[in-house]
Amino acid sequence: MVSGSKPFSRTKSSRVWRSGQKTRLMGLTSSVILPLLFGSLGIFGLFRLLQRMRMKAYLKDAVVVITGATSGLGKECAKAFHAAGSKLVLCGRNRERLQDLLQELSTSADHPKNPHKHHTVIFDLSDIKAVVSAAEEISKCVDHVDVLINNAGISYRGTIVDTVVEVDRKVMETNYFGPVALTKALLPSMIKRRKGHIVAISSVQGKFGIPFRSAYAASKHATQAFFDCLRAEVEQYNVDVTVVSPGYIQTNLSLNAITADGSQYGVMDKTTSRGKAAAEVARVVLNAVGEKRKEVLVAGFVPSLVVYLRTLCPRLFFTVMASRARKERKAKDS
Ligand SMILES: NC(=O)c1ccc[n+]([C@@H]2O[C@H](COP(=O)([O-])OP(=O)(O)OC[C@H]3O[C@@H](n4cnc5c(N)ncnc54)[C@H](OP(=O)(O)O)[C@@H]3O)[C@@H](O)[C@H]2O)c1
Repeated sequence: MVSGSKPFSRTKSSRVWRSGQKTRLMGLTSSVILPLLFGSLGIFGLFRLLQRMRMKAYLKDAVVVITGATSGLGKECAKAFHAAGSKLVLCGRNRERLQDLLQELSTSADHPKNPHKHHTVIFDLSDIKAVVSAAEEISKCVDHVDVLINNAGISYRGTIVDTVVEVDRKVMETNYFGPVALTKALLPSMIKRRKGHIVAISSVQGKFGIPFRSAYAASKHATQAFFDCLRAEVEQYNVDVTVVSPGYIQTNLSLNAITADGSQYGVMDKTTSRGKAAAEVARVVLNAVGEKRKEVLVAGFVPSLVVYLRTLCPRLFFTVMASRARKERKAKDS
């Protein structure tokens, strides 16, 4: 009897102790944790609202220059910034396609909210003289530039051993020297006004190189480095720099890519066709500009992981890439 009553009373007292603890915890939850949680959510919501309002004000009536506006991401950026109320200078090589885009914007549902007359400027980014004259033409169309989006670009497919150096040069001129020349031409007026924003559309391939894309990956690595240096140099003049690094996007990039001998690749790669929608990436670009982000990675889990793998575990990265190269070579030869 006696030996059996002890555990019974211990169980009872521990039950009482536990119920006291439960009551104290409930009291703590209702008096401290919940108000703190709702308060933080409220502050966060208010912060996001203010951020959105500031972003809207920043983009409305901003003068935005977009290169490569005839297709893919550039075209979707044009639609996104038009919807945000910006005044656009649309650049490309194809006059007709730019006119079609102007027509499309003028009949879009967002058009009544955007009172601006947009401009088009035709030039080839791989021709530096043409880029310099285009910058002069842009300065005549609009009295200042708030945002320059260096979007135009070409891709490449080929083995390094078979590729003529003119192809490397062409990719570099379009993806690197062209945007650099346009940026340098428009930068002095931004510095003078102590206001401006320069965006570079790079790629995850600006952060790691994958086999059979050497010229493209090299041009995007150069882009990343140039605009990182620029960001540091111009921050003191209140000029912002954003580098956007997307993974695959559903555009004509692979169709328009050039090969080892400079001919058009002309294939819609599965990876490209399964990529993110260009309109979705354009929204990311718009928000990145509105929020003055310094860098944005727009990629799925695997490419994002590879970015870290390249830095933190380079030996594993090299092994994976060598195996990928062997597999791709084998698939091509069979
Ligand atoms: N698609 C992807 O998977 C992907 C992934 C990461 C990054 N990106 C980057 O996104 C940007 C936009 O490419 P996209 O995917 O939208 O490809 P896209 O549909 O092929 O569009 C490329 C644009 O660049 C223009 N362009 C090409 N060469 C030019 C030159 N020499 N001078 C002037 N304009 C030129 C094209 O104009 P024309 O009409 O005159 O040819 C076109 O408007 C590129 O910088 C690309 O590297 C794309």
